[in-house]
Amino acid sequence: MGQPTPARTDWWRSAVIYQVYVRSFADGDGDGTGDLAGVRARLPYLAGLGVDALWFTPWYRSPMKDGGYDVADYRAIDPAFGTLAEAEKLIAEAGELGIRTIVDIVPNHVSDQHPWFRAALAGGPERELFHFRPGRGEQGELPPNDWRSEFGGPAWTRLPDGDWYLHLFAPEQPDLNWAHPTVRREHEDVLRFWFERGVAGVRIDSAALLAKDPRLPDLAGGRGPHPYVDRDELHDVYRAWRSIADAYGAVFVGEVWLPDSERFARYLRPDELHTAFNFSFLTCPWDAARLRAAIDETLAEHAPVGAPATWVLCNHDVTRTVTRYGRADTGFDFATKAFGTPTELALGTRRARAAALLSLALPGSVYVYQGEELGLPEAEVPVERIQDPMHARSGGTDPGRDGCRVPLPWAAGEPYAGFGSRQEPWLPQPAGWASYAVDRQQGDPASVLALYRAAIRLRPVFGDGPLTWLPAPDGVLAFTRAEDVLCVVNLAGTPADLPPHTGLLLGSGPLDDDGRLPTDTAVWLRA
Ligand code: GLC
Repeated sequence: MGQPTPARTDWWRSAVIYQVYVRSFADGDGDGTGDLAGVRARLPYLAGLGVDALWFTPWYRSPMKDGGYDVADYRAIDPAFGTLAEAEKLIAEAGELGIRTIVDIVPNHVSDQHPWFRAALAGGPERELFHFRPGRGEQGELPPNDWRSEFGGPAWTRLPDGDWYLHLFAPEQPDLNWAHPTVRREHEDVLRFWFERGVAGVRIDSAALLAKDPRLPDLAGGRGPHPYVDRDELHDVYRAWRSIADAYGAVFVGEVWLPDSERFARYLRPDELHTAFNFSFLTCPWDAARLRAAIDETLAEHAPVGAPATWVLCNHDVTRTVTRYGRADTGFDFATKAFGTPTELALGTRRARAAALLSLALPGSVYVYQGEELGLPEAEVPVERIQDPMHARSGGTDPGRDGCRVPLPWAAGEPYAGFGSRQEPWLPQPAGWASYAVDRQQGDPASVLALYRAAIRLRPVFGDGPLTWLPAPDGVLAFTRAEDVLCVVNLAGTPADLPPHTGLLLGSGPLDDDGRLPTDTAVWLRA
C-alpha cells in the first residue's frame, strides 16, 4: 500500500473500498451520533484492516430526512458530524496512512431545506431548477403524472399555492432539473470543491435517474425510452464530469441499478465513469450456478469497455449479508423485505465468510460495508425507533433500511459497546451486539475480522490476471487468476474434494477430517 502516489493511478481497478456510514461508525463526542472525530480516531483500525479507500456516505449539512441523502449544503459538513476543517484533516490523515477518500454526491435531488428549493417555494426563478407543474383534474387536485416515489406513494407533492413538485424519493428530496445549465454548473463546481480538498473519488448517487423526459409523460402505456431511468442525455453530463475528474486524477463509481447489461456498460465507456456498482452480484442468491452466471455476465459486460468490475455484497440500503444468507430466500429484493423473516445466523455467517473469500478473489474492486468485516447481522430495530423513510412511506409494512445501519460495536465492556459514551446511539443496538465488538474479535484468529484482515492482506497473490474457471463438481466454484493460486467455494450439500494443490493459503472455515472442503466453505490454495 504505502502513500498514495501519482504512480499508482490505477489503484481503483483492484482496490478494497470500505464504506463508512458516518452516522453509525464511531461517535467521537458521545452524543449518540457517529462523527468525523470518531472516524479519525479509528483510522488506525482501518489501516490495520488494509483497505485502500474509504467511501463516506453523505456527510454534508442535511436535515437527515433520508440519512443525509437530502443535502442542504454540499460545501458544508453537517454540524452533527463535524466541520469542513475536520473533514480536510481526515482526508489528509487517511492519506498519510495510504487510504484514499471517496465522497458521495447526490445529484438527482437536494433537501427541501437547500437554499434553491427555499427560494423556489418563495416563488423565485429557482423554480426552474426543479420540476414544478400544475396538477391534473378540475382543480389541479391530481398529481401531474402517475410516477411513484421509490419510497412508496406518489412522486409528487402539492404546495399551498396549488403547484406540484417532483420527488422520486421522499417529499423532502425535490428532484433537480438537469436540463437547466445552472444545475450542471453547480455540480461541476461541487466536484471541483471536493477534488481540491484531496478527495480521490466520487460515488454518484442514483446515477441513472437524473435526466427526465421534459414532457414528464405518464409511465402507464408509455412507449420508447423511460421518462426518467437511464436516459441518453445523461451520458453528456458524465462526459463533462469525467474531464473534471481527469484533471485531478480522481475516479467515479456510479450507483447504476439497470437490468440491461449493454445499457449499464454505456456508463463505463472510457470517457465516462470509471466504475459502477455491480448489483447483480449483490442481489444474487447463494447458489453456485447463479453466482457463476452473475460473475460471467458481469465480466462479459465490462470487457468491451475495458472497465473493471466491482463486487459488493451489501451496503447501507440492503439486508446485511449474514442475515440474507441465513434465510430461505438468500437473494436480495427490496420488494420482499418483511418483518420477522426466520433466519439461521450460524448458517448465514458461514456462507458470508465463504462469500468474502469469493469476492476478494475476483478481478476488480471490492466494497466492504462497515460491520461486514465483523459479521454483523441485520438488526431488528423496534418499530417506534425506525427512522428510515422507506418504512413510514410503505405504510409500515417494509422494515426499512435501519437494520443495517445500527451503530458499530467497538469494545464489548464499554457503554453502547464502545460506539459512544454519554448518550444512547441514534439507533438502538440489539441485545448481544457487544459479542461482535472489534476488541472481542481482534485477538481471535477464528473471528470474521481476522478472516477479512488476512484476506485483504493476501489478496494481491491473485495478481491482476483474468478469471479462468476450473473443472469442479456441481455446486462447487473453482477458479484461478494467477496460475499458481486457486479459489474454491463449496455451495454443494456435501463436502468436496480439493483440486491438487501444494498449500492452503486461507480458509473461511476448517477442512473436514478427510481434508475435504465442507459445505458453505471457501479456500484459497497454492497450486
Ligand atoms: C441511493 C442511496 C439511498 C438513498 C437514495 C436517495 O439509493 O443509496 O440510501 O436513499 O439513493 O438518495
